[in-house]
Amino acid sequence: MTGGRICLPLLLLLVLFAAIALAQYTPQDNILISCGSSTNVTVEGRVFMADNTPNTLASGGVSASISQPSPNLLYPTLMQQARFFTSNGTYTLKLTPGRHWVRLYFYPFSFTNYDINGSLFSVTANQFVLLSEFQPTSWTTSANPSVFREYSLNVTSGTLVLSFDPAPSSYAFINAFEVVSMPSDLYSDDASLLGQGGDVTTLGLPDSAIQAMYHINVGGVSVSPQNDSTGVWRTWEPDDGYIFAAATGTTGSVPVTEIVYPTTVPEYIAPSTVYASARTMGSSTTINQNFNLTWIFPVDLGYTYFVRMHFCELFLSAINQRVFNIYINNQTADTAVDVIALTAHPDYVMYRDYAVVMSKGSNALWLQIGPAPASTSQYRDAILNGVEILKLNNTGGSLSGLNPAVAITNPDGSPATGTASKSGSSSAAVVAGAAVGGVVAVALLIAGIWLCCCRSKKSAKHPPPAWLPLPLHGNSSETTQSKISTSHKSGTGSYVSSVGSNLGRYFTFAELQDATNNFDECLILGVGGFGKVYKGEIDDGTKVAVKRGNPTSEQGLTEFQTEIELLSKLRHRHLVSLIGYCEENCEMILVYDYMSQGPLRGHLYGTDLPPLSWKQRLEICIGAARGLHYLHTGAAQGIIHRDVKTTNILLDENLVAKVADFGLSKTGPTLEQTHVSTAVKGSFGYLDPEYFRRQQLTEKSDVYSFGVVLMEVLCARPAINPTLPREQVNIAEWALQKQKHGLLETIMDPCLHGSCNPESLQKFGDTAEKCLQDQGIDRPAMGDVLWNLEYALQLQENAGQLNLMDSSTNLVSLMPHAMSPHPVDDASNVTGVSEAHSFGSDDDLEDASASAVFSQLVNPQGR
Ligand SMILES: *[C@@H]1O[C@H](CO)[C@@H](O)[C@H](O)[C@H]1NC(C)=O
Ligand SMILES: *[C@@H]1O[C@H](CO)[C@@H](O)[C@H](O)[C@H]1NC(C)=O
Ligand SMILES: *[C@@H]1O[C@H](CO)[C@@H](O)[C@H](O)[C@H]1NC(C)=O
Ligand SMILES: *[C@@H]1O[C@H](CO)[C@@H](O)[C@H](O)[C@H]1NC(C)=O
Ligand SMILES: *[C@@H]1O[C@H](CO)[C@@H](O)[C@H](O)[C@H]1NC(C)=O
Ligand SMILES: *[C@@H]1O[C@H](CO)[C@@H](O)[C@H](O)[C@H]1NC(C)=O
Ligand SMILES: *[C@@H]1O[C@H](CO)[C@@H](O)[C@H](O)[C@H]1NC(C)=O
Ligand SMILES: *[C@@H]1O[C@H](CO)[C@@H](O)[C@H](O)[C@H]1NC(C)=O
Repeated sequence: MTGGRICLPLLLLLVLFAAIALAQYTPQDNILISCGSSTNVTVEGRVFMADNTPNTLASGGVSASISQPSPNLLYPTLMQQARFFTSNGTYTLKLTPGRHWVRLYFYPFSFTNYDINGSLFSVTANQFVLLSEFQPTSWTTSANPSVFREYSLNVTSGTLVLSFDPAPSSYAFINAFEVVSMPSDLYSDDASLLGQGGDVTTLGLPDSAIQAMYHINVGGVSVSPQNDSTGVWRTWEPDDGYIFAAATGTTGSVPVTEIVYPTTVPEYIAPSTVYASARTMGSSTTINQNFNLTWIFPVDLGYTYFVRMHFCELFLSAINQRVFNIYINNQTADTAVDVIALTAHPDYVMYRDYAVVMSKGSNALWLQIGPAPASTSQYRDAILNGVEILKLNNTGGSLSGLNPAVAITNPDGSPATGTASKSGSSSAAVVAGAAVGGVVAVALLIAGIWLCCCRSKKSAKHPPPAWLPLPLHGNSSETTQSKISTSHKSGTGSYVSSVGSNLGRYFTFAELQDATNNFDECLILGVGGFGKVYKGEIDDGTKVAVKRGNPTSEQGLTEFQTEIELLSKLRHRHLVSLIGYCEENCEMILVYDYMSQGPLRGHLYGTDLPPLSWKQRLEICIGAARGLHYLHTGAAQGIIHRDVKTTNILLDENLVAKVADFGLSKTGPTLEQTHVSTAVKGSFGYLDPEYFRRQQLTEKSDVYSFGVVLMEVLCARPAINPTLPREQVNIAEWALQKQKHGLLETIMDPCLHGSCNPESLQKFGDTAEKCLQDQGIDRPAMGDVLWNLEYALQLQENAGQLNLMDSSTNLVSLMPHAMSPHPVDDASNVTGVSEAHSFGSDDDLEDASASAVFSQLVNPQGR
C-alpha cells in the first residue's frame, strides 16, 4: 500500500504514564530439594531440603555423594550429593494449582560402580517429557561441569510427579531441584506469530509446558537468581556469547534507580538490571545503515518458540530519534519500533512477544534489529535491553531435544578443531569467535556460515550414536495439522459447529473456486491479517467478496469463528453483511457482500480516486458511526470492534459506509463489569492510549480509534506517517494539537478548502477532539458522536441552502441562539438528547426517529 502506513499488531505493548508500581511477588510454593542428602543445604540464603528424611519425597534410588566436587561448580555444597536411580524413580509433590518453575540441577560424577559416562535417562513431569535419552556428560565441560535445565509447568491437579527413568542397563540421577510458584501473568498467551503477517496468535500456553532456553541481559552483566525480580529467581546471562559478527554495536547502561515500571508492567517481568543496560548500534549513520545487530541462539528443531524482547530507551528522549525493525529468522517481525513513541518516556520499560516455529533448516534462531529503512528518524539506530526465549512443548507433550553430537570429526577422520563439541553451544562459540575476530564482518560472516554448513554436513555424514533419538519432532505440516485438530477437539470437527444453524448460506469449496476463477491472484481485493480477499461472482453474476483464511493460522481460526458468530447475529445497514461461508478441507472462507467502492482509506489518499466532498465524508463518517453505535448498543451484550480504522470501513456503490472485519471483536463488558481485560490488539496509530496502559477494553476504545478515523478523513493522510517530521508522525497528536489552537483548518485536506462550512468543520473538529481524549471516561459514547456528526452535516447542508438563498448572509448570525450551547461540549446535555433518539437495533426505525428528533432540534428552518 502506498502512503507509508504502518500497522503494528501490538501485543503486550505497554505504555505508561502512571506511577510506579513495585509489584512484589511471593511464591506460594517454594520447594527446594537437595537430592540424596540427609542434611539441609543452604545456598545463597535459600534452603534446599534434604530428601532423605523420614518423610522422604523420593521413591526409589540411592543416595550418592562425592567428597571433592569440581571447584568450578557454582554451588559445590549442593552438587556434591545426588540421588541415583536404576529403575524409574519419582518425587511426588503436593502443590498449589498454578504455574510453577521446575529447575533441575545435574552434576555427573562417578560413584561406587556407577560410571560417570553411564547415565542415560528421561525425565517426565506429569504428562510432559522434559528430557529424553538425556546424557548429562555430553553437556558438561571441565569449566562448566554441571547442567541446569529450567522448565515451567502449569500444575492444575495440585500434584506434580517428577519421574527419572533410566534407559535399559543405565541409571538416572538428580542433584537438586526447585519447584517454585511463578506469577501467572509472567508470560502471556498472545504473541505475534512470524510468517502470519504479524498476526497476534494464541499459543496455547496455559496448557503447555515450557522450557526456558535463554534469559539474556543484552549489553549487560549476568544477573544471579538473587538479583532477579523478587521471588522469580531467573538467571540472566550476558549476550556476549550470542552476538554475531564483527559489528557488535556498543553497550551502555544507566543506574538501575532510573528505570521506571509503569503500572501495567509488574516489576517481576524483568529486573531493572536487565532494563538498565542495552546494546545499540553505534554512532555512525553510514555503518548503521548497512548492518543489523544480530544474535544467534541455538535451539532444537520441531518446536514453537516464544521470543520476548525487553526494551527501555536509556539514552534518547524524543520520538522519531531511534526507529528500528525487528527480524527473526530473516523475516520481518516488527517494523518502525520507536520505544519512546511506545512508552512515552525515556527509562520506562516495555516488552514485546513474538513466536516462531522452528521446523526445519538450521537449529539456530536468528534475532536481528536494524534501522527501519523507510523511517525519517533522527538517528539510524536500534536498541535492545533483554531477550527471553522459551520453548513450548510439541503436540506430543515433549520438550526434549537432541544431545549434542559428542565427538565431531572431520571427513578425513581427524578430530575437528576450533568448533566446540556441543551443538548446543557450538554456534554460539563460532559466533563469539567471529565476534572478537576482527573487523572484516563480511569475511567472518561467510566463514561463520561456512563453519555452520560444514558442521551440519559433518554431523549428517556420521550416523548418530545408537542412543540418539531420531529427530521425530513434527515437521511443519504435522504441527499445522495437529494445531487444527487441537482446535477441533472442543467441537465435533467443525470450526463453526458451536455457532448454531442460522449462519447464512453454505458454499462448497468448488463453488467458490468457480466464483473466484480458482482464487485468481488478479482478483485479489486486499490482503488482511486473516488472509486474502478475492472478488467473485456467484449464481447469476452477483458480485461477492470472498475472504479465504490461511488454514495454518490458529489466529485465523479464532477470527473465523468470531466473525461468523458475530456477523450471523448482526444485521445492519452499516455493517458488512455475511452471505455465507465454506469450511471444507481445512479451508475457512467467508463470503460477503461485495463493496464496490472499497475501503474508505482509498478515497482519502494514496490512490487516484477523486477526492470526496465534505458532505460525502460526513455521510460516510455518520454511516460508520451508526454501525459502531449499533455494535455497542444493539446486541444484548455490546460488541467492541477493536480494530476501527479507515481500511475497515468499506463503501458500496452508493458510497454508503459499512463497518467490516470483526475478527478482533470482543463482546463487551456485562453490566456488572466495567471493562474487558485483554491483551492489547488492534492497529498502530488507532490504539486507545488508555487501553495500552491498562489493557482494559471498553467501547470507548473504539471511540478513540474512530476519532483517529475522523482526523484521517479531514486531513487525508495516514494515522501514522513516519516520513513526516517528528511532531507530525502521529495524526492523533498532531491534529489534536492543531485543533486545540483552533488551527485544524491549516492541516485539512486542501481539496476541501472553500467547500466546507466553518461551523460544520468546527463541530467536526470538536467531536474528533472529544473522541481522542486520553481518558475513556472523557470521551463521548458512540451515540453522542453520531449525534454530533449529524449536526455537523446539518450545518453543512443548511449552509449550502442558505448560501443558495443569499450567499452574503452570515450563517452564524442566522443560527438560533438555542443552537449554540454546543451539544457536544456538555456531555450530560448530549446524553439527554441521544436518549430521546432511542437508537434501537432496528436501523430503519432508528434512522426515522433520529432524523425526526434531529430536524426538530437542529434544523434552524424548522423553527
Ligand atoms: C530442613 O528444613 C526443614 C524446613 O526448612 C525443616 O523442617 C527440617 O527440620 C530441616 N532438616 C534438617 C535435617 O535440618
Ligand atoms: C518408566 O518410565 C518410562 C517413561 O518415562 C515408561 O515408559 C516405563 O514404562 C516406566 N517403567 C516402569 C517400570 O514403570
Ligand atoms: C567418560 O568419557 C570421556 C569422553 O569420552 C572420557 O574422556 C572419560 O575418561 C570417560 N570417563 C570414564 C570414567 O570412563
Ligand atoms: C493453568 O491451566 C488452567 C486450566 O487449563 C488455566 O485456567 C490457567 O489459566 C492456567 N494458568 C496459567 C498461568 O497458564
Ligand atoms: C546482586 O547485586 C548487587 C548490587 O548490584 C551485587 O553487589 C551483588 O553481588 C549481586 N549478587 C549476586 C549474587 O550476584
Ligand atoms: C539468515 O540469513 C543468513 C545470511 O543470509 C543465513 O546465514 C542464515 O542461515 C539465515 N538464518 C535463518 C534462520 O534462516
Ligand atoms: C537486516 O536483516 C534483514 C533480515 O535478515 C534483512 O532483510 C536486511 O537486509 C538486513 N539489513 C541490512 C542493512 O543488512
Ligand atoms: C503441549 O502439550 C499439551 C498436552 O499434551 C497440549 O495440549 C498442547 O497443545 C501442547 N502445546 C503445544 C504448543 O503444542
